[in-house]
Formats: sequence, structure tokens, C-alpha cells
Amino acid sequence: MGTESANGIEITNLSHAFAGRTVLSNIDMSVPDGSSVALLGPNGAGKTTLMNILCALLTPDSGRVMLGEMDLARQPDAVRRKIGAVFQDPSLDTRLSAWENLDFHGLIYGLSRRERKRRAAEVLELVELDAWRDEIVRTFSGGMKRRLEIARALMHQPSILFLDEPTTGLDPQSRARIWSYLEGLRASDNLTQVITTHYVEEVEDHDYIYIIDQGRLIASGTPHELKSRHGTSMIRCLPRDATTEEELMAAYPEAMPLADGRIGITLGAGDMLDAFLGRFGARLRQIQIDEPSLATVFLALTGREIDQRTPGAPKKAAGVQ
Ligand SMILES: Nc1ncnc2c1ncn2[C@@H]1O[C@H](COP(=O)(O)OP(=O)(O)OP(=O)(O)O)[C@@H](O)[C@H]1O
Ligand SMILES: [Mg+2]
Repeated sequence: MGTESANGIEITNLSHAFAGRTVLSNIDMSVPDGSSVALLGPNGAGKTTLMNILCALLTPDSGRVMLGEMDLARQPDAVRRKIGAVFQDPSLDTRLSAWENLDFHGLIYGLSRRERKRRAAEVLELVELDAWRDEIVRTFSGGMKRRLEIARALMHQPSILFLDEPTTGLDPQSRARIWSYLEGLRASDNLTQVITTHYVEEVEDHDYIYIIDQGRLIASGTPHELKSRHGTSMIRCLPRDATTEEELMAAYPEAMPLADGRIGITLGAGDMLDAFLGRFGARLRQIQIDEPSLATVFLALTGREIDQRTPGAPKKAAGVQ
């Protein structure tokens, strides 16, 4: 492998089962050096399991993972030094200060006292927590804790960063901040990034997306490729009464009940929308047309909605009646 792939990842035919139940099945993935790849999938899809394997915390049943020129199975310790990880579950020591959490991490990674001091100052500045360096982490907001976890993952200057749902549960400002730090790190340090998320609207800015469902990769591509290949516009509507709902479901067999109680119908070509509105428009409490998005890509591929923990911003919305 050439130097251009020194910090890339190649996953080949990876499978894993827990107690006989397959949770990852024949995964092939490629993450180019310096790129940002998002793994998008609903609850239980296998994202964390895959992350744990990539972070050398879990040995897969079969398959091969190369991080640059290192074979994960043969050089797990070298791999651990090369990577940084932000785990889904909080893992800071909340009894310690921000600085102490970073210092301790540096110590584990064998950084000298001087290096630890220098690096902790750098990463605290990066995530805008320098003013809180001596505060006890217990007093931090969720967003601050997450930022500190990112800082900690960067302490030993990894060349690949794994982030498992880094923004789940955070307010929009905290989420935006985190994405901007990560984007900055790609630009300044060519840091390869693999992130998992439920938030479809957050994966649009990544170079490449893998969609995972029930342990299998079901699609991959750039956001643009995925939308042009699988994306469809969607009608989301709320029928006025049960009779309308029944009639609608019978008229459009592909219609799907959505998690929010509405009904989703893939918008077909031609005058389908006119025909739909002509017949049902006056009998809907609400209608919204979603442009092709990664949410509709997932829906089109699986017939189910990806679990969204915060409502996505609708592209177009119109009240009817
Ligand atoms: N240690 C374990 N033992 C047994 N089953 C497990 C274990 N860890 C995960 N699983 C199961 O493997 C499947 C995949 O779980 P995983 O945590 O990887 O999914 P996920 O995509 O990260 O989900 P979430 O979005 O909820 O974080 C789930 O069905 C889960 O119950
Ligand atoms: Mg998970």
C-alpha cells in the first residue's frame, strides 16, 4: 500500500455474531486517507459493534481490517496508538477536572509530562474549553462533556478518529460546533474520520456514506450519488379520519405508516401529486412534501424510517385545510 493510503481503512468481509446471533454480516468498507465517512443506520443496526471492532476492543469472528498498512488482528496495540475514539456512552471521569481527564489519557498513551501539558492546552483550545480547564467535569453541560471527549481522543495525535454518535442528544448549537471542529481537523491535519449517526441531516457533509441496517450494508455512495440513485420525494400526510386512512392505504399499496403517526407515500412521476391531492387533498389534516434526502433514501431502501431522535427540518411544508 502506498503512502496515500497510510491513514485509510479497508474492511473486507467482516462478520460478527453475539451468542449465535449475527449482528454484522459480510461488511466491506473502504475509508480513504483523510476522508470523512459516515455510517448511517437505525438502532441495533450494528454501528457500535463495528466501531468497537475498528477500535480493537472487540475481535470479529471473521474478516480483515487494515488501517493503513497495519493489520488490526496482528497489530492491535499499534492500531490503538494510531486511532482516537469518542464512544457512544460517556466515558469521562466526572470527578476530575477537564485538564486531569486529558492528562490521564496522555499518561496512558505514554506522553511525557511536557507533551501532555502542551497537547492538553492545544486540544482544550480547539474545543473552546480552555477557560474551564480546572473545573470538575461533573458541572459541565452535555455539549461541553462531548467536546472534552473529542479533545481527549485527540490528545495522542491520532491519524484516524472514530466517533460513535458524537452529537446524539445535544442541542443544535453544540452539534454545529462539533461538526465545525471536525471539519477543521480534516482541513488542518488531514485527519481521517469515521462517524456513526442517526441524524440523517448530519451526514450530508461527509465525503462518503455507508447505510447499514440489521448488520448489512445496504447502500453506499456520496450523498449526491445516494440521493440520485435511491432518493425519491415523499408525501407525508395525516388523514382526517380512519375512513380516509383506509381508502388511502388501499389506493396506494406502497404507503407506509410513519413513526410520527403520519403516512408516507413515495411520490411517483407525472401527475401523481395532482391525482393524490385531487382525491385526498380535502380530507387531510396535514400534508408535507419531502425533497429527496437521505431520510427518503433510507425509507425507499428499507420501507422503514430511520430512527430520528430529533425531528428533521422539513424542506417544504404546507398545511391543508
Ligand atoms: N455485547 C453484546 N452481547 C450481545 N448482543 C449485543 C452486544 N452488543 C450489541 N449486541 C446486539 O447487537 C446488535 C447491534 O448492536 P449495536 O450496539 O452495534 O447497534 P447500533 O447500531 O450501535 O445501535 P444504536 O443506534 O442503538 O447505538 C443489537 O441487536 C444488540 O442488541
Ligand atoms: Mg450504537
